Amino acid sequence: MKNSKIVGIGHCVPPGIVKNADLEEMMNTSDAWIQERTGIKERRWAKFGEETVASMAVDASKKAIANAGMEVKDIDFIVVATMSPDYQFPGVGTQIQDQLGLGYVGALDIRNQCSGFIYALSTADQFVKTGMYKNILVIGAEIHSHRLDKTPRGRAVSVIFGDGAAAVVLSACDEGEEGVLSTHLHSDGAYTEELMAKGPGNLVPPLPVIPNDPDFFPHMNGRAVFKHAVIRFSEVINEALKANGKQVEDIDMLIPHQANLRISQFIQRAMDLPEEKVFNNIMKYGNTTAASIPLALSEAVEEGRIKKGDLVCIAAFGSGFTWASSLIRWNF
Ligand code: UT7
Repeated sequence: MKNSKIVGIGHCVPPGIVKNADLEEMMNTSDAWIQERTGIKERRWAKFGEETVASMAVDASKKAIANAGMEVKDIDFIVVATMSPDYQFPGVGTQIQDQLGLGYVGALDIRNQCSGFIYALSTADQFVKTGMYKNILVIGAEIHSHRLDKTPRGRAVSVIFGDGAAAVVLSACDEGEEGVLSTHLHSDGAYTEELMAKGPGNLVPPLPVIPNDPDFFPHMNGRAVFKHAVIRFSEVINEALKANGKQVEDIDMLIPHQANLRISQFIQRAMDLPEEKVFNNIMKYGNTTAASIPLALSEAVEEGRIKKGDLVCIAAFGSGFTWASSLIRWNF
């Protein structure tokens, strides 16, 4: 059986910076509240008619392919995680295939929200392990900003989310060469309604849509999500360590899903990890859901915070609820 390893990485964020001060009038919020509760200073919001999820994913993918020293034609499958595709259907994978000019390779959309990238990585890892594909693009990409309630009613959710995309090339390697050591996926649908957007869907009345219907904006029971998140993060990180016979001290870099800086700091303290072993960039980008982990990975690699041979742990928790982790022996 083969193993899989990440051989290239890249990211793309829209140029439009939205600072907390920009939200103050719109949403009756304050820079102080946002920074104190979430750590976020600014986020990127896509401009309608300019960036799309597909266009950002394609840009990130091209960078990841170049970083891998490959050409687009070397890619034989696409797995893309998003909860904000450009169309209600089909999924965005097909537009990424087309815009990359990528033959007729298969494209799979994954809908696991904040855990989406790890679910996508795990799926791609299985395809590589069985020998079905050799070089898979694994992407996380979101545009949340067009679907947020930007009035005071939506402030608890809308100040948090940002837009962005990032991609990795996952390639086959020989067993024992390391790379992705393991992935761990979980869900608990009992908490579906704690973090969700109901519409469009089968539990809201059929069309016509009522303008500004709250069912069509994301709803979050922030406190409940926070409480579950801090428990599940620690659990799923420990599960990954145990599966590989590793200890917390063996982790060189933890990349938690960027949901809230306070959650990342809580995990860091709970796991007794030094601050420099946890990478956060939520301050600049907010929560970009499926894009957040690869976006943080990409920046950490770019900044030299992750090096060849490092043991990297990625972990996520979010809507579903779903949660997941992976241990990766970084190889470039
Ligand atoms: O990525 C998916 C997973 N998501 C998460 O993990 C998020 C988890 N939850 C959280 O990060 C936090 O719960 C939030 C950041 C979302 C909210 O922070 P909180 O400390 O739990 O605030 P809260 O919702 O309990 O609200 C506290 C107060 C309320 O006012 P009162 O009732 O105390 O007078 C809110 O109305 O803060 C008020 N508030 C705001 N004030 C200014 C809520 N949102 C805002 C806002 N600006 N944006």
